[in-house]
Amino acid sequence: MATWPLAPQLFFVVWTRANDFSVTFSLSDVPETQYFVAREAELAEIRSSLRSDGSRRVVVLHGLGGIGKTQIAITYAKRYRDEYSAVFWLSIKDEASIQQSFIKVARQITQQYPNASLLSAVGKQQSQEESIEAVKAWLSLPNNTRWLLIYDNLDNPRLANSAEDAGIDIHQFLPTAYQGSIIITTRSSQVDLGNIIRIRKLISIENSLEILSKTSGRDNLQHGKKLVAN
Ligand SMILES: Nc1ncnc2c1ncn2[C@@H]1O[C@H](COP(=O)(O)OP(=O)(O)O)[C@@H](O)[C@H]1O
Ligand SMILES: [Mg+2]
Repeated sequence: MATWPLAPQLFFVVWTRANDFSVTFSLSDVPETQYFVAREAELAEIRSSLRSDGSRRVVVLHGLGGIGKTQIAITYAKRYRDEYSAVFWLSIKDEASIQQSFIKVARQITQQYPNASLLSAVGKQQSQEESIEAVKAWLSLPNNTRWLLIYDNLDNPRLANSAEDAGIDIHQFLPTAYQGSIIITTRSSQVDLGNIIRIRKLISIENSLEILSKTSGRDNLQHGKKLVAN
């Protein structure tokens, strides 16, 4: 039959679409600065730390509040989104934001995979704990290894040897299978996972002038140039 040779190809397209675990990129609700500058060394270090054969990689961005951790994570996600099948943003600041984040991720997944049976009950009869477990289970499926999860603001981590209910235990919220890529931002120096990258102040005069120049709409500010109001 003339159409027969096409059938296996069509089957393959449908099969890969259904099994490549890709989810549309979206960072809605994440506060992105309009003018991001510099941080190329940090971005390169994140990239090389997350380079993987599919097994789990973790990078922790550690530094003071307001230093630029979240903006670096956003820039990394936008720049390298095509290298990941899915990128999900989770606020891990407190219990309420964790639950909201997981429910949002579950919805993002079910929009694209309505038949993902574990997730289909999210927002209906499922409890929040069940939604979290369903997302973790989906991210642990065999071959679903190319996702990037960003856990933003793990500022109050549970410390080893601390009381049961003090702080957020990040391990409860990590997919169990040892796969995928993870970026954690934190003000705490106590997060002891993966490669810890210390984020420092942007101090060079060139960086400061670049921010000033971009935010003011004046592209002629350079080091050593006299700034004259016009
Ligand atoms: N690389 C950068 N370029 C321009 N502005 C930046 C940069 N990094 C941080 N900022 C500014 O500083 C603010 C705080 O950065 P943020 O990433 O939220 O800090 P953190 O997550 O460390 O608390 C941002 O809203 C942005 O206005
Ligand atoms: Mg932040």
